Amino acid sequence: MDIFFAPMEGVTGPQFRRAHHNHFSGVDKYYLPFISPTQDHRFTPREIRNVGLEANQGMEVVPQLLTKNAQDFIWCARGLGDMGHREVNLNLGCPSATVVTKGKGAGMLRDPDGLERFLEEIFSADLGELEISIKTRLGLESPEEFPRLAEIFSRFPISLLILHPRVRADFYKVPVRGEEFVKALPYLKCPVCYNGGIVTAAGCARLAAELPQIHSVMIGQGLAVNPALARQAKGGPPLGREELRTFHDQLYRTYLQDFSGERSTVFHMKELWGYFSRMFDGGEKLFKEIKKAQNARSYESAAARVFDTLPLRQEADWEHPSKI
Ligand SMILES: Cc1cc2nc3c(=O)[nH]c(=O)nc-3n(C[C@H](O)[C@H](O)[C@H](O)COP(=O)(O)O)c2cc1C
Repeated sequence: MDIFFAPMEGVTGPQFRRAHHNHFSGVDKYYLPFISPTQDHRFTPREIRNVGLEANQGMEVVPQLLTKNAQDFIWCARGLGDMGHREVNLNLGCPSATVVTKGKGAGMLRDPDGLERFLEEIFSADLGELEISIKTRLGLESPEEFPRLAEIFSRFPISLLILHPRVRADFYKVPVRGEEFVKALPYLKCPVCYNGGIVTAAGCARLAAELPQIHSVMIGQGLAVNPALARQAKGGPPLGREELRTFHDQLYRTYLQDFSGERSTVFHMKELWGYFSRMFDGGEKLFKEIKKAQNARSYESAAARVFDTLPLRQEADWEHPSKI
């Protein structure tokens, strides 16, 4: 089974992907956090740092586009093709209110006829060899919307449909609707990838056993918590304490170099500990110290104590209320 790292805006940026790729095997492709092409048809320096092949050397990466404007999509996809990308991904899943109210991301699911016109335009454009994949939810409000969406998807040569079995109204909170994923499969003609709620190697194995027709899984939060999850799911060793520490140290050093000042680095590392903390047993007091850290010194000393003293778990502690 192929394993793809899900796009996670604010988490899986270029520094994170580089450090992850350097330390952990098992991820077949990294899907990049979305970029929103604008009408001036220019890549910003920040976008180039994210999607440029230089930033992603040695890795299979797929840029993701968030737009409802077909001409902007086509311009951007061509630019990405010129950079050497072989696949671009269309975001039909983002649930954020600011995105959805503009009719983008999951907001595109509100108007299936408009979505169909959009897909007609982008799939009839000459994009050379570039493949278009789609990442979507089951619908905006209810999974009952999916058969109509699937009918539309089936009209186009979508290279891969990544289906996150929640509706927009679920955001990321309610449990993933696994049974709705199974119900959706017969409606789809293109290759389908499962995404959502996989946090352990056993979860990957269950998916493979229960749905042998699915050949790929996309994992986001599970890999952010346990960066060795893809390797482990493919039969490799579980996460080791020292490798998590070296991964952490590389991330931290790169952010210190690339971000403007230590405050933003410390702030960002605290966000990441919301994930890493789930690989440790106990440690509430130490995680509070990380959360309170205001400068590099106090952050480094709290993080060092976690690595020096807390037992590492073999698998993520997902049921535990967030430690940080
Ligand atoms: C912090 C965060 C940022 C995300 N950013 C994106 C994004 O840029 N594009 C996208 O398609 N999905 C994004 N997602 C959704 C994930 O790609 C994924 O679909 C979702 O987390 C469910 O998969 P998981 O349970 O394996 O994490 C984001 C999710 C989170 C938690």
